[in-house]
Amino acid sequence: MSFVFRDFSAAESRLRADVLAGLAARPKRIPPKYFYDAAGCRLFESICAQPEYALCRTEQALMATHLPAIAAALGRVESIVEPGAGDCSKVRRLLDALRPTRLLLLDIAGAPLAAAAQAVARDYPAVAVSALAMDFLDGLEAAGAWLGAGPHLVYYPGSSIGNFPPAAATALLARFRRLAGAKGRLLIGFDLKKDPQRLHAAYNDAAGVTAAFNLNLLERINRELDADFDLARFRHYAFYHPAEGRVEMHLVSLAEQTVRVAGERFRFALGESVHTEHSCKYRRDEFATLAASAGWRLADDWEHDGFAVQLYT
Ligand SMILES: C[S@@+](CC[C@H](N)C(=O)[O-])C[C@H]1O[C@@H](n2cnc3c(N)ncnc32)[C@H](O)[C@@H]1O
Repeated sequence: MSFVFRDFSAAESRLRADVLAGLAARPKRIPPKYFYDAAGCRLFESICAQPEYALCRTEQALMATHLPAIAAALGRVESIVEPGAGDCSKVRRLLDALRPTRLLLLDIAGAPLAAAAQAVARDYPAVAVSALAMDFLDGLEAAGAWLGAGPHLVYYPGSSIGNFPPAAATALLARFRRLAGAKGRLLIGFDLKKDPQRLHAAYNDAAGVTAAFNLNLLERINRELDADFDLARFRHYAFYHPAEGRVEMHLVSLAEQTVRVAGERFRFALGESVHTEHSCKYRRDEFATLAASAGWRLADDWEHDGFAVQLYT
């Protein structure tokens, strides 16, 4: 077994600066990457098990059904890099089919990544597994050095690309292009535009798990930035915006209130929101156009029940 874990997350953590800047901005906002403390990671796994949130199950079903075709389209793959690997469950399917020699897993949530990546290394002893706890928005190019010369397969499942508005998504895909190397590839999963009621329900599950995930951000800030958010005075609010083609997630203040964060005070008007996440939805052709503007050429694509996986060269 070959396994290396390095934690660059503490050194690179900008939580304090980003939260203070985001709460001072108009409208207020906090980047979604801060959802993922240990509790946030557990809540995300629980979201994926909710009946209304079919996205993860649908992508897994797509991959199970089309894996032989995806593996045939990919051919020989020496190295895979997964930014935002989470519990590393999806990449296992690729390891089974492709048998690469090297795997690089990146995630901002260090402890969950270390545990999940070590389990992958144990289960796939022929693969040299490296796991780096880092904000890949800061460290993607440095992370590439761990893999050595390309070409690499960049694997970016889970519709995580939807968290970036189109211009930022294009910029990130262009960075993936450079990371993959001249003959590198990108295998990416994203959620498709569909019945808005279905999208609305997915982010408003009856059990309230998505609401707990959203509110956990305030709990994290209370704990890590010595803040005094009263969670009962904020409401999870998520809706699909058809003109923008995205689900927006907010935390809406239920009262006129002042909150202290890291020694600074922030006023909230009744009804004022903190924007916490975008989940952009695409048509397949729309996404291919976006990826093309980042230098990727669509090689193949697969669809299953409102979810797409596309292969780019
Ligand atoms: C929606 S989950 C998806 C996990 C997994 N890729 C999947 O498809 O099941 C997003 C993951 O990306 C990680 N993440 C989000 N933003 C990140 C960033 N800027 N740098 C590193 N990891 C990030 C989170 O910690 C989380 O584990």
